[in-house]
Amino acid sequence: MPYRHCEEQSDEAISNDFPMKRDCFVGLRPSRNDERALDLGHGGNFLELCDYFKISPEKAIDFSASINPLGFPKGVESFLAARLSQIKHYPDIKNEKVLSSLSEYLNIPAGNILAGNGSMEILDWVLRTLKPESVKIVNPAFSEYRRLAENCGAKITEAHESADLIFVAHPGNPMGNLLTSGEFKNLLNSCRWLVVDEAFVEFAGEEHSYVHEVLDFSRLIVIRSATKFFSIPGLRLGYAVASEEMIASLRKFQLPWSINSLAQEAAAYIFSDTQFQNQSREFVAGERAWLSQNLALLGWIKTYPSSANYLLCEIKGDALELFHQLGAKGCFIRPCHNFAGLGARFFRVAVRTRKENECLIEAMSKL
Ligand SMILES: Cc1ncc(COP(=O)(O)O)c(C=O)c1O
Repeated sequence: MPYRHCEEQSDEAISNDFPMKRDCFVGLRPSRNDERALDLGHGGNFLELCDYFKISPEKAIDFSASINPLGFPKGVESFLAARLSQIKHYPDIKNEKVLSSLSEYLNIPAGNILAGNGSMEILDWVLRTLKPESVKIVNPAFSEYRRLAENCGAKITEAHESADLIFVAHPGNPMGNLLTSGEFKNLLNSCRWLVVDEAFVEFAGEEHSYVHEVLDFSRLIVIRSATKFFSIPGLRLGYAVASEEMIASLRKFQLPWSINSLAQEAAAYIFSDTQFQNQSREFVAGERAWLSQNLALLGWIKTYPSSANYLLCEIKGDALELFHQLGAKGCFIRPCHNFAGLGARFFRVAVRTRKENECLIEAMSKL
């Protein structure tokens, strides 16, 4: 499936090359009120889902958040525990350790990097700095691009219209597809500023990243995150890579001490752990192939090719129904009904460990 720009996908457009499951997931879906109480805007509301489905966290598996199934690099806990006493001081206001670790990790000068409290914070600075009048989002996409753009008063433009700023994720979320260099150049040539969100790029391989292009293109901003690949969503660490001038402009919005002391320490540890990085990529690639093959073998799920740690899946029924049926069995998937450009038939599953992936396949085969 190619990249899409903001248009909705009609049911007719959906492929017809896989059979419909007989009962089509009807009957277990709770009342609308119940559904509204459940926040399905993002994956990863694990405890909320456990509570909703009345399942203890030990018996549930979260396929809704796309975090590295190997967890964080070995030794991070003891490394941080030994540095816990640092929280009695303010963190380094210049984030020097973070920037030097990132500079080495990416092989990019520190002056081209700006770190923040998760990539969400950086995305916010980008919009507040550039104040685009119009924003185009390459859909289906992370819902926050639209929210941030609308909050800053930008008009969201359609595929055929021009835009000041374009958001594209590489790999895409929830599709996991990579942006080809041709697509990258086309996008760059059709706007004033191109924002490439590489929150998941390490799963595909660093060689696919567009970070080095910022040295040639001052209209390009690459956003990266330590959340997904290094499994530290709770520490909050993200960064932008861009021209020195752009970094200086973005920095004006940075609040003092927005990266906490433990996240600063963790940076030095995680970005230098190349063994973890190679092992994670290899592990995820193997499990992604296994999961994709076994989902397809069920006969009623179509999976899309992915270079990330998740798979976009399509059924001929209602994925929200499937979400409820699997949720009752302790497997939490991410329905994609609220992604622009997708519809009720789509859902996303994270690639987990073999044992966990087997649980999902088993739960699905018993529906
Ligand atoms: C594509 C994408 N970009 C950015 C983020 C934000 O990540 P963080 O703020 O944790 O770095 C997410 C979170 O789900 C995401 O899916």
